[in-house]
Amino acid sequence: MGYNKGMNFYETLEKILTTARPPEKIDAFRSFYEAYKAGKVKVEDAGAIRYFKEPSYAGFCQIVSPQTVPKRKKFTTDGGKILLLHAIAHIEYSAIDLALDAAYRFRGLPKEFYDDWLEVAEDEVRHFEMIESLLVELGSSYGTVEVHNSLFEASQRTQTLLERMAVVPRYLEANGLDATPEILQKLKKLPQDDMLKKIESTLKTVLDEEVGHVLKGDRWFTYACELEKADKSVYFEIIEKYYPNWPARKKSMNVSARKEAGFSCSELNVIAGEKIC
Ligand SMILES: [Fe+2]
Ligand SMILES: [Fe+2]
Repeated sequence: MGYNKGMNFYETLEKILTTARPPEKIDAFRSFYEAYKAGKVKVEDAGAIRYFKEPSYAGFCQIVSPQTVPKRKKFTTDGGKILLLHAIAHIEYSAIDLALDAAYRFRGLPKEFYDDWLEVAEDEVRHFEMIESLLVELGSSYGTVEVHNSLFEASQRTQTLLERMAVVPRYLEANGLDATPEILQKLKKLPQDDMLKKIESTLKTVLDEEVGHVLKGDRWFTYACELEKADKSVYFEIIEKYYPNWPARKKSMNVSARKEAGFSCSELNVIAGEKIC
């Protein structure tokens, strides 16, 4: 690519963020990340930070409201499996941009901040590829099913470090820690076929790695609280601001994963609406 020569940190991240299609975005990310880890990327004097009006996938995914996204049912059929895998592929593809956007948007932070979110982006790339390869095995591909853009909107609406870390890793990704075991449980009850087994083991890997993302979110949320001289309980104010109907009483929660990811018992009790920890 001849990319490595004089590669600038923010400029390159902006390019990757605005690259639409998976193969090009992933290639561009990989050469950037390799150069970054080799210390070959120059952190340039911060230029203007772009506010993105639409997600990078807008050109090839049809975006609809969350209510009209095709419902995933009947995982015993190929069609049902495709809907499930497509929905997860879309979450992972969106998550690549969310991780890169954190590294791009929030400037002047310790190097560990950028290390963390680029590492998350690398995980999300791998998650996307694992899921997309199963889609391809079923004769489908990413971009063939309608999607919603609520992850992108969440990032668009949270333009401070404090709010972003609360909402994206510590709320949305943390919700994923609760949701994935439920999906796994449902799948395990079905008559097992090869594809179902592959989906299950992939989801299990993804779940394990997502704990680390939420933990990184906790680390930088705590850091942002210190910067803003805010108590960590500001988390609940932020979540209520963006998700007024957030489940104050969550029906099932992955308590062990959430604790591993930095949630305190008192936080988990508030989220559950009862003493569970
Ligand atoms: Fe992921
Ligand atoms: Fe993640």
